[in-house]
Amino acid sequence: MKVKNICCIGAGFVGGPTMAVIAEKCPDIKITLVDKNKDKIKLWNDNDYKKIPVNEPGLISILKKVRNKNLFFSEDIDSAIVESQIIFLAVNTPTKHEGEGAGFAADLKFIDACTKNIAKVATNEKIIVEKSTLPVRTAERIKEIINNNNKHGVKFEVISNPEFLAEGTAIKDLYKSDRVLIGGDQTPSGKRAVTELVNIYKRWIPLKKILKVNVWSAELSKLASNAFLAQPISSINSLSSLSKVTDADIDEIAKAVGMDKRIGKHFLKVSPGFGGSCFQKDILNLVYLLRFYGLNEEANYWYGVIRINDNQRKRVSSIINQYFTDKKINKKVGLLGWSFKKNTNDTRESSSIYVAYNLLNQGFEVLIYDPLVDSKKIIEDLKEHNTNKNLFDSEGFLKSVHVMNTIDSITKSTKVLAIMTEWDEFKNIQKLSEEIKIFDFRNILEKSKTIFSF
Ligand SMILES: NC(=O)c1ccc[n+]([C@@H]2O[C@H](COP(=O)([O-])OP(=O)(O)OC[C@H]3O[C@@H](n4cnc5c(N)ncnc54)[C@H](O)[C@@H]3O)[C@@H](O)[C@H]2O)c1
Repeated sequence: MKVKNICCIGAGFVGGPTMAVIAEKCPDIKITLVDKNKDKIKLWNDNDYKKIPVNEPGLISILKKVRNKNLFFSEDIDSAIVESQIIFLAVNTPTKHEGEGAGFAADLKFIDACTKNIAKVATNEKIIVEKSTLPVRTAERIKEIINNNNKHGVKFEVISNPEFLAEGTAIKDLYKSDRVLIGGDQTPSGKRAVTELVNIYKRWIPLKKILKVNVWSAELSKLASNAFLAQPISSINSLSSLSKVTDADIDEIAKAVGMDKRIGKHFLKVSPGFGGSCFQKDILNLVYLLRFYGLNEEANYWYGVIRINDNQRKRVSSIINQYFTDKKINKKVGLLGWSFKKNTNDTRESSSIYVAYNLLNQGFEVLIYDPLVDSKKIIEDLKEHNTNKNLFDSEGFLKSVHVMNTIDSITKSTKVLAIMTEWDEFKNIQKLSEEIKIFDFRNILEKSKTIFSF
Protein backbone atom coordinates (compact mmCIF):
# COMPACT_ATOMS: atom_id res chain seq x y z
CA MET A 1 0.00 0.00 0.00
CA LYS A 2 1.37 3.42 -0.92
CA VAL A 3 0.15 6.03 1.55
CA LYS A 4 -0.67 9.21 -0.36
CA ASN A 5 -3.69 10.45 1.57
CA ILE A 6 -4.49 10.47 5.25
CA CYS A 7 -7.79 11.52 6.77
CA CYS A 8 -8.40 12.40 10.40
CA ILE A 9 -11.95 12.51 11.76
CA GLY A 10 -12.18 14.95 14.67
CA ALA A 11 -10.47 18.35 14.36
CA GLY A 12 -10.12 19.01 18.08
CA PHE A 13 -7.32 19.36 20.61
CA VAL A 14 -5.74 16.08 19.49
CA GLY A 15 -6.63 15.88 15.78
CA GLY A 16 -5.57 19.48 15.01
CA PRO A 17 -2.03 19.56 16.45
CA THR A 18 -1.26 15.91 15.58
CA MET A 19 -2.19 16.25 11.92
CA ALA A 20 -0.39 19.60 11.66
CA VAL A 21 2.85 17.93 12.79
CA ILE A 22 2.36 14.89 10.52
CA ALA A 23 1.69 17.25 7.58
CA GLU A 24 4.85 19.21 8.34
CA LYS A 25 6.98 16.07 8.57
CA CYS A 26 5.43 14.33 5.52
CA PRO A 27 5.13 16.97 2.78
CA ASP A 28 4.48 14.23 0.17
CA ILE A 29 1.28 13.09 1.93
CA LYS A 30 -2.03 14.96 1.65
CA ILE A 31 -3.78 15.17 5.01
CA THR A 32 -7.43 16.11 5.38
CA LEU A 33 -8.90 16.92 8.78
CA VAL A 34 -12.67 16.63 8.88
CA ASP A 35 -15.22 17.35 11.55
CA LYS A 36 -19.00 17.28 11.79
CA ASN A 37 -18.83 20.68 13.49
CA LYS A 38 -18.86 23.01 10.48
CA ASP A 39 -18.18 26.15 12.55
CA LYS A 40 -14.99 24.55 13.81
CA ILE A 41 -13.80 23.78 10.28
CA LYS A 42 -14.49 27.40 9.29
CA LEU A 43 -12.37 28.63 12.19
CA TRP A 44 -9.50 26.27 11.24
CA ASN A 45 -9.63 27.84 7.75
CA ASP A 46 -9.92 31.43 8.98
CA ASN A 47 -7.42 33.91 7.50
CA ASP A 48 -6.95 35.29 10.99
CA TYR A 49 -4.84 32.60 12.69
CA LYS A 50 -5.84 33.93 16.11
CA LYS A 51 -9.28 32.44 15.51
CA ILE A 52 -8.20 28.80 15.14
CA PRO A 53 -10.08 26.76 17.74
CA VAL A 54 -7.08 25.22 19.51
CA ASN A 55 -4.54 27.40 21.24
CA GLU A 56 -1.15 25.67 21.37
CA PRO A 57 2.27 27.33 21.39
CA GLY A 58 3.94 26.70 17.98
CA LEU A 59 0.79 25.53 16.17
CA ILE A 60 0.19 28.69 14.15
CA SER A 61 3.68 28.72 12.67
CA ILE A 62 3.23 25.11 11.45
CA LEU A 63 -0.18 25.95 9.98
CA LYS A 64 1.35 28.87 8.09
CA LYS A 65 3.65 26.37 6.37
CA VAL A 66 1.23 23.52 5.63
CA ARG A 67 -2.35 24.77 5.53
CA ASN A 68 -3.79 24.43 2.03
CA LYS A 69 -0.49 22.94 0.85
CA ASN A 70 -0.73 19.40 2.20
CA LEU A 71 -3.03 19.97 5.19
CA PHE A 72 -6.68 20.67 4.50
CA PHE A 73 -9.64 21.29 6.81
CA SER A 74 -12.89 20.12 5.28
CA GLU A 75 -16.57 19.51 5.99
CA ASP A 76 -16.71 16.82 3.32
CA ILE A 77 -16.13 13.77 5.50
CA ASP A 78 -17.11 11.13 2.93
CA SER A 79 -14.73 12.30 0.18
CA ALA A 80 -11.84 12.41 2.65
CA ILE A 81 -12.61 8.82 3.71
CA VAL A 82 -12.84 7.57 0.13
CA GLU A 83 -9.50 9.02 -0.99
CA SER A 84 -7.44 8.02 2.09
CA GLN A 85 -5.44 4.90 2.80
CA ILE A 86 -5.14 5.66 6.52
CA ILE A 87 -8.01 7.07 8.62
CA PHE A 88 -7.37 8.36 12.12
CA LEU A 89 -10.28 8.48 14.58
CA ALA A 90 -9.68 11.43 16.91
CA VAL A 91 -13.23 12.09 18.06
CA ASN A 92 -14.20 12.75 21.66
CA THR A 93 -14.96 9.87 24.04
CA PRO A 94 -16.56 11.51 27.10
CA THR A 95 -17.89 9.75 30.17
CA LYS A 96 -21.32 8.23 29.57
CA HIS A 97 -24.20 10.08 31.20
CA GLU A 98 -26.86 7.42 30.79
CA GLY A 99 -27.34 3.74 30.14
CA GLU A 100 -25.07 0.90 31.23
CA GLY A 101 -21.91 2.21 32.87
CA ALA A 102 -23.32 5.77 33.29
CA GLY A 103 -20.94 7.99 35.25
CA PHE A 104 -17.94 5.75 34.54
CA ALA A 105 -17.69 4.08 31.14
CA ALA A 106 -16.55 5.97 28.03
CA ASP A 107 -19.30 6.96 25.65
CA LEU A 108 -18.36 5.44 22.31
CA LYS A 109 -21.25 6.81 20.29
CA PHE A 110 -19.00 9.11 18.20
CA ILE A 111 -16.56 6.27 17.48
CA ASP A 112 -19.46 4.01 16.50
CA ALA A 113 -20.97 6.65 14.19
CA CYS A 114 -17.65 7.30 12.42
CA THR A 115 -16.95 3.59 12.01
CA LYS A 116 -20.38 2.91 10.53
CA ASN A 117 -19.92 5.75 8.09
CA ILE A 118 -16.43 4.61 7.04
CA ALA A 119 -17.75 1.08 6.41
CA LYS A 120 -20.55 2.45 4.27
CA VAL A 121 -18.60 4.85 2.07
CA ALA A 122 -15.17 3.17 1.73
CA THR A 123 -14.55 1.59 -1.66
CA ASN A 124 -10.99 0.32 -1.18
CA GLU A 125 -8.62 -1.04 1.50
CA LYS A 126 -8.25 1.11 4.67
CA ILE A 127 -6.23 1.19 7.84
CA ILE A 128 -8.29 2.63 10.70
CA VAL A 129 -6.19 4.11 13.49
CA GLU A 130 -7.65 4.54 16.96
CA LYS A 131 -6.22 7.88 18.08
CA SER A 132 -8.96 8.64 20.61
CA THR A 133 -8.56 7.20 24.11
CA LEU A 134 -10.66 4.04 24.23
CA PRO A 135 -11.46 1.21 26.61
CA VAL A 136 -9.52 -1.98 26.07
CA ARG A 137 -11.17 -4.29 23.46
CA THR A 138 -12.67 -1.41 21.42
CA ALA A 139 -10.89 -2.62 18.26
CA GLU A 140 -13.09 -5.72 18.48
CA ARG A 141 -16.21 -3.54 18.56
CA ILE A 142 -14.97 -1.47 15.61
CA LYS A 143 -14.38 -4.63 13.56
CA GLU A 144 -17.86 -5.88 14.38
CA ILE A 145 -19.45 -2.60 13.27
CA ILE A 146 -17.44 -2.72 10.06
CA ASN A 147 -18.44 -6.32 9.34
CA ASN A 148 -22.11 -5.42 9.81
CA ASN A 149 -21.95 -2.38 7.52
CA ASN A 150 -19.26 -3.19 4.96
CA LYS A 151 -21.18 -2.10 1.89
CA HIS A 152 -18.42 -2.58 -0.68
CA GLY A 153 -16.72 -5.65 0.85
CA VAL A 154 -13.59 -3.63 1.60
CA LYS A 155 -10.62 -4.97 3.62
CA PHE A 156 -9.94 -3.09 6.87
CA GLU A 157 -7.24 -3.25 9.51
CA VAL A 158 -7.79 -1.62 12.90
CA ILE A 159 -4.74 -0.47 14.83
CA SER A 160 -4.35 1.50 18.05
CA ASN A 161 -2.08 4.54 18.32
CA PRO A 162 -3.07 6.40 21.50
CA GLU A 163 -1.98 9.99 21.89
CA PHE A 164 0.14 11.05 24.87
CA LEU A 165 0.43 14.80 24.18
CA ALA A 166 -0.37 17.24 26.98
CA GLU A 167 -2.30 20.41 26.19
CA GLY A 168 -0.14 23.54 26.42
CA THR A 169 2.93 21.60 25.21
CA ALA A 170 1.26 19.59 22.44
CA ILE A 171 3.63 20.58 19.62
CA LYS A 172 6.73 20.03 21.73
CA ASP A 173 5.35 16.65 22.82
CA LEU A 174 4.56 15.63 19.23
CA TYR A 175 8.02 16.66 17.97
CA LYS A 176 9.82 14.80 20.74
CA SER A 177 7.50 12.10 22.00
CA ASP A 178 8.80 10.01 24.91
CA ARG A 179 7.35 7.08 22.97
CA VAL A 180 4.94 6.35 20.14
CA LEU A 181 2.80 3.30 20.80
CA ILE A 182 1.36 1.33 17.89
CA GLY A 183 -0.72 -1.76 18.55
CA GLY A 184 -2.00 -4.14 15.91
CA ASP A 185 -3.21 -7.67 15.34
CA GLN A 186 -0.41 -10.22 15.37
CA THR A 187 -1.39 -11.41 11.86
CA PRO A 188 0.62 -10.71 8.66
CA SER A 189 -1.88 -8.01 7.53
CA GLY A 190 -2.05 -6.54 11.06
CA LYS A 191 1.75 -6.33 11.15
CA ARG A 192 1.81 -4.70 7.69
CA ALA A 193 -0.68 -2.04 8.88
CA VAL A 194 1.50 -1.30 11.91
CA THR A 195 4.54 -0.95 9.62
CA GLU A 196 2.71 1.62 7.46
CA LEU A 197 2.20 3.82 10.52
CA VAL A 198 5.76 3.25 11.76
CA ASN A 199 6.92 4.50 8.33
CA ILE A 200 5.13 7.80 8.99
CA TYR A 201 6.41 8.36 12.52
CA LYS A 202 9.99 7.24 11.85
CA ARG A 203 10.50 10.33 9.71
CA TRP A 204 11.05 12.29 12.92
CA ILE A 205 10.79 9.88 15.88
CA PRO A 206 13.82 7.59 16.48
CA LEU A 207 12.88 3.95 15.87
CA LYS A 208 13.85 2.94 19.39
CA LYS A 209 11.05 5.16 20.71
CA ILE A 210 8.38 3.55 18.53
CA LEU A 211 6.90 0.62 20.42
CA LYS A 212 5.11 -2.05 18.42
CA VAL A 213 2.72 -3.94 20.72
CA ASN A 214 -0.48 -5.93 20.55
CA VAL A 215 -3.63 -3.90 20.03
CA TRP A 216 -5.05 -4.55 23.52
CA SER A 217 -1.84 -3.45 25.26
CA ALA A 218 -1.90 -0.20 23.27
CA GLU A 219 -5.51 0.54 24.24
CA LEU A 220 -5.00 -0.27 27.93
CA SER A 221 -1.63 1.53 28.16
CA LYS A 222 -3.32 4.87 27.54
CA LEU A 223 -5.82 4.47 30.40
CA ALA A 224 -3.00 3.18 32.61
CA SER A 225 -0.79 6.18 31.78
CA ASN A 226 -3.45 8.73 32.68
CA ALA A 227 -4.28 6.91 35.91
CA PHE A 228 -0.59 6.88 36.90
CA LEU A 229 -0.22 10.58 36.00
CA ALA A 230 -3.28 11.70 37.98
CA GLN A 231 -2.41 9.65 41.04
CA PRO A 232 0.49 11.87 42.30
CA ILE A 233 -1.74 14.96 41.94
CA SER A 234 -4.35 13.39 44.20
CA SER A 235 -1.60 12.12 46.52
CA ILE A 236 -0.09 15.55 47.13
CA ASN A 237 -3.52 17.23 47.36
CA SER A 238 -4.60 14.60 49.89
CA LEU A 239 -1.82 15.77 52.20
CA SER A 240 -2.44 19.51 51.84
CA SER A 241 -4.93 19.69 54.76
CA LEU A 242 -2.75 17.66 57.09
CA SER A 243 0.22 19.78 56.18
CA LYS A 244 -1.74 22.95 56.98
CA VAL A 245 -2.97 21.84 60.43
CA THR A 246 0.47 20.66 61.44
CA ASP A 247 2.30 23.78 60.17
CA ALA A 248 4.25 21.76 57.63
CA ASP A 249 4.80 23.31 54.20
CA ILE A 250 3.24 21.36 51.31
CA ASP A 251 5.70 22.77 48.75
CA GLU A 252 8.62 21.62 50.90
CA ILE A 253 7.00 18.19 51.19
CA ALA A 254 6.50 18.01 47.42
CA LYS A 255 10.13 18.93 46.90
CA ALA A 256 11.39 16.36 49.37
CA VAL A 257 9.18 13.60 47.96
CA GLY A 258 9.89 14.56 44.36
CA MET A 259 13.66 14.42 44.82
CA ASP A 260 13.33 10.68 45.22
CA LYS A 261 14.21 9.50 41.72
CA ARG A 262 11.79 6.59 42.03
CA ILE A 263 8.92 9.08 42.41
CA GLY A 264 9.99 12.25 40.53
CA LYS A 265 8.91 15.87 40.92
CA HIS A 266 6.34 16.03 38.13
CA PHE A 267 2.69 16.37 39.10
CA LEU A 268 3.51 17.00 42.75
CA LYS A 269 2.36 20.63 42.68
CA VAL A 270 -0.54 21.30 45.01
CA SER A 271 -3.68 22.67 43.29
CA PRO A 272 -7.47 23.02 43.48
CA GLY A 273 -7.64 19.59 41.83
CA PHE A 274 -6.81 18.26 38.40
CA GLY A 275 -9.02 19.05 35.42
CA GLY A 276 -8.79 18.53 31.70
CA SER A 277 -10.71 16.27 29.40
CA CYS A 278 -8.74 13.12 30.14
CA PHE A 279 -7.73 12.24 33.69
CA GLN A 280 -11.18 12.05 35.24
CA LYS A 281 -12.93 10.31 32.36
CA ASP A 282 -10.11 7.85 31.77
CA ILE A 283 -9.78 6.86 35.42
CA LEU A 284 -13.56 6.47 35.68
CA ASN A 285 -13.37 4.26 32.63
CA LEU A 286 -10.61 2.20 34.23
CA VAL A 287 -12.73 1.86 37.39
CA TYR A 288 -15.61 0.69 35.21
CA LEU A 289 -13.46 -1.91 33.48
CA LEU A 290 -12.04 -3.19 36.77
CA ARG A 291 -15.55 -3.56 38.19
CA PHE A 292 -16.72 -5.22 34.98
CA TYR A 293 -14.10 -7.91 35.54
CA GLY A 294 -15.08 -8.23 39.23
CA LEU A 295 -11.91 -6.51 40.51
CA ASN A 296 -13.70 -4.36 43.08
CA GLU A 297 -10.84 -3.67 45.49
CA GLU A 298 -8.69 -2.48 42.61
CA ALA A 299 -11.58 -0.36 41.32
CA ASN A 300 -12.00 1.26 44.75
CA TYR A 301 -8.30 2.03 44.91
CA TRP A 302 -8.33 4.00 41.64
CA TYR A 303 -11.68 5.59 42.44
CA GLY A 304 -9.94 7.06 45.49
CA VAL A 305 -7.85 9.24 43.13
CA ILE A 306 -11.08 10.78 41.80
CA ARG A 307 -12.64 11.15 45.24
CA ILE A 308 -9.63 13.04 46.57
CA ASN A 309 -9.90 15.33 43.57
CA ASP A 310 -13.59 16.04 44.28
CA ASN A 311 -12.74 16.58 47.91
CA GLN A 312 -10.08 19.15 47.02
CA ARG A 313 -12.56 21.17 44.94
CA LYS A 314 -15.10 21.12 47.79
CA ARG A 315 -12.41 22.13 50.23
CA VAL A 316 -11.35 25.11 48.10
CA SER A 317 -14.98 26.31 47.89
CA SER A 318 -15.49 25.98 51.64
CA ILE A 319 -12.24 27.83 52.43
CA ILE A 320 -13.54 30.81 50.43
CA ASN A 321 -17.01 30.56 51.95
CA GLN A 322 -15.66 30.36 55.49
CA TYR A 323 -13.62 33.55 55.03
CA PHE A 324 -16.66 35.55 53.94
CA THR A 325 -18.84 34.05 56.67
CA ASP A 326 -16.27 34.86 59.38
CA LYS A 327 -15.75 38.41 58.12
CA LYS A 328 -19.49 38.93 57.60
CA ILE A 329 -18.83 40.64 54.27
CA ASN A 330 -20.74 40.65 51.03
CA LYS A 331 -20.24 37.32 49.25
CA LYS A 332 -18.51 38.60 46.12
CA VAL A 333 -15.29 36.99 44.91
CA GLY A 334 -13.03 37.24 41.85
CA LEU A 335 -11.90 33.93 40.34
CA LEU A 336 -8.69 34.20 38.34
CA GLY A 337 -8.33 31.52 35.70
CA TRP A 338 -10.92 29.31 34.03
CA SER A 339 -8.83 26.97 31.86
CA PHE A 340 -7.81 23.77 33.66
CA LYS A 341 -4.13 24.76 33.48
CA LYS A 342 -2.05 27.57 32.00
CA ASN A 343 -1.20 27.92 28.29
CA THR A 344 -4.38 26.29 27.01
CA ASN A 345 -7.89 27.49 26.25
CA ASP A 346 -9.32 24.09 27.19
CA THR A 347 -11.74 24.31 30.11
CA ARG A 348 -13.08 20.77 30.22
CA GLU A 349 -13.42 19.51 33.81
CA SER A 350 -11.59 22.57 35.10
CA SER A 351 -11.76 22.89 38.89
CA SER A 352 -12.82 26.53 38.37
CA ILE A 353 -16.18 25.31 37.06
CA TYR A 354 -16.79 23.17 40.14
CA VAL A 355 -15.64 25.85 42.58
CA ALA A 356 -17.64 28.64 40.89
CA TYR A 357 -20.69 26.42 40.91
CA ASN A 358 -20.31 25.55 44.60
CA LEU A 359 -19.90 29.24 45.44
CA LEU A 360 -22.99 30.22 43.44
CA ASN A 361 -24.83 27.55 45.36
CA GLN A 362 -23.70 29.24 48.59
CA GLY A 363 -25.09 32.62 47.51
CA PHE A 364 -21.94 34.16 46.03
CA GLU A 365 -21.63 36.67 43.26
CA VAL A 366 -18.68 35.49 41.15
CA LEU A 367 -16.47 37.64 38.92
CA ILE A 368 -14.29 35.66 36.52
CA TYR A 369 -11.25 36.47 34.40
CA ASP A 370 -9.15 34.23 32.17
CA PRO A 371 -6.59 35.42 29.59
CA LEU A 372 -7.78 32.96 26.90
CA VAL A 373 -11.31 31.91 27.73
CA ASP A 374 -14.15 34.23 26.75
CA SER A 375 -17.45 34.92 28.41
CA LYS A 376 -19.48 32.75 26.00
CA LYS A 377 -17.46 29.65 26.89
CA ILE A 378 -17.55 30.34 30.64
CA ILE A 379 -21.33 30.71 30.65
CA GLU A 380 -21.69 27.58 28.49
CA ASP A 381 -19.55 25.59 30.96
CA LEU A 382 -21.63 26.71 33.93
CA LYS A 383 -24.88 25.96 32.16
CA GLU A 384 -23.69 22.51 31.17
CA HIS A 385 -22.53 21.79 34.73
CA ASN A 386 -25.91 22.96 35.99
CA THR A 387 -27.71 20.60 33.61
CA ASN A 388 -25.71 17.71 35.02
CA LYS A 389 -26.32 18.72 38.64
CA ASN A 390 -29.74 20.28 38.18
CA LEU A 391 -29.55 22.57 41.20
CA PHE A 392 -30.55 25.93 39.80
CA ASP A 393 -33.24 27.12 37.46
CA SER A 394 -31.48 27.42 34.13
CA GLU A 395 -31.06 31.19 33.80
CA GLY A 396 -31.46 32.49 37.37
CA PHE A 397 -28.02 31.71 38.72
CA LEU A 398 -26.25 33.32 35.77
CA LYS A 399 -27.29 36.74 37.07
CA SER A 400 -24.62 36.27 39.73
CA VAL A 401 -21.87 35.52 37.21
CA HIS A 402 -19.82 38.36 35.69
CA VAL A 403 -17.09 37.63 33.20
CA MET A 404 -14.52 40.46 33.10
CA ASN A 405 -11.79 41.36 30.60
CA THR A 406 -9.15 42.42 33.10
CA ILE A 407 -8.17 41.87 36.71
CA ASP A 408 -8.49 45.61 37.31
CA SER A 409 -12.15 45.52 36.40
CA ILE A 410 -12.67 42.81 39.02
CA THR A 411 -10.90 44.70 41.79
CA LYS A 412 -13.21 47.66 41.23
CA SER A 413 -16.06 45.43 42.49
CA THR A 414 -14.42 43.13 45.01
CA LYS A 415 -11.23 43.14 46.97
CA VAL A 416 -11.08 39.36 47.36
CA LEU A 417 -9.49 37.25 44.61
CA ALA A 418 -8.82 33.54 44.27
CA ILE A 419 -6.13 32.20 41.93
CA MET A 420 -7.53 29.09 40.28
CA THR A 421 -5.20 28.63 37.28
CA GLU A 422 -1.43 29.14 37.41
CA TRP A 423 -1.23 31.66 34.51
CA ASP A 424 2.13 33.50 34.60
CA GLU A 425 0.42 36.91 34.51
CA PHE A 426 -1.21 36.17 37.88
CA LYS A 427 2.23 36.18 39.51
CA ASN A 428 2.19 39.98 39.12
CA ILE A 429 -0.88 40.48 41.24
CA GLN A 430 1.17 40.42 44.40
CA LYS A 431 2.10 43.97 43.39
CA LEU A 432 -1.55 45.02 43.82
CA SER A 433 -2.44 47.17 46.80
CA GLU A 434 -2.52 45.57 50.25
CA GLU A 435 -6.22 46.14 50.26
CA ILE A 436 -6.58 43.20 47.86
CA LYS A 437 -6.89 39.84 49.62
CA ILE A 438 -5.71 36.80 47.68
CA PHE A 439 -6.42 33.10 48.03
CA ASP A 440 -3.59 31.38 46.19
CA PHE A 441 -4.84 27.90 45.32
CA ARG A 442 -1.84 27.28 43.06
CA ASN A 443 0.89 28.32 45.50
CA ILE A 444 2.47 30.65 42.94
CA LEU A 445 2.80 33.78 45.10
CA GLU A 446 4.93 34.59 48.09
CA LYS A 447 2.95 33.22 51.02
CA SER A 448 3.20 36.48 52.98
CA LYS A 449 1.20 38.25 50.23
CA THR A 450 -1.79 35.92 50.48
CA ILE A 451 -4.60 35.24 52.92
CA PHE A 452 -4.47 31.57 51.99
CA SER A 453 -2.03 29.30 50.27
CA PHE A 454 -1.74 25.56 50.75
N1 LIG B 1 -7.16 16.68 24.85
C1 LIG B 1 -6.09 15.99 25.20
O1 LIG B 1 -5.15 16.49 25.82
C2 LIG B 1 -5.98 14.53 24.81
C3 LIG B 1 -4.74 13.90 24.89
C4 LIG B 1 -4.65 12.58 24.51
C5 LIG B 1 -5.78 11.90 24.08
N2 LIG B 1 -6.99 12.51 24.05
C6 LIG B 1 -8.14 11.76 23.55
O2 LIG B 1 -8.32 12.09 22.17
C7 LIG B 1 -9.72 12.10 21.85
C8 LIG B 1 -10.12 13.45 21.29
O3 LIG B 1 -9.93 14.42 22.30
P1 LIG B 1 -9.95 15.97 21.98
O4 LIG B 1 -9.52 16.66 23.22
O5 LIG B 1 -9.25 16.25 20.70
O6 LIG B 1 -11.55 16.17 21.75
P2 LIG B 1 -12.28 17.43 21.05
O7 LIG B 1 -13.63 17.47 21.64
O8 LIG B 1 -11.39 18.64 21.14
O9 LIG B 1 -12.37 17.02 19.52
C9 LIG B 1 -13.15 15.98 19.04
C10 LIG B 1 -13.81 16.42 17.74
O10 LIG B 1 -14.48 15.30 17.15
C11 LIG B 1 -15.61 15.79 16.45
N3 LIG B 1 -16.55 14.69 16.18
C12 LIG B 1 -17.27 13.95 17.06
N4 LIG B 1 -18.00 13.04 16.40
C13 LIG B 1 -17.76 13.19 15.08
C14 LIG B 1 -18.21 12.54 13.91
N5 LIG B 1 -19.09 11.52 13.99
N6 LIG B 1 -17.76 12.96 12.73
C15 LIG B 1 -16.90 13.98 12.65
N7 LIG B 1 -16.39 14.65 13.73
C16 LIG B 1 -16.83 14.26 14.93
C17 LIG B 1 -16.17 16.84 17.39
O11 LIG B 1 -17.01 17.75 16.68
C18 LIG B 1 -14.89 17.50 17.92
O12 LIG B 1 -14.52 18.64 17.17
C19 LIG B 1 -10.45 11.71 23.13
O13 LIG B 1 -10.67 10.33 23.13
C20 LIG B 1 -9.45 12.07 24.22
O14 LIG B 1 -9.61 11.29 25.37
C21 LIG B 1 -7.11 13.82 24.38
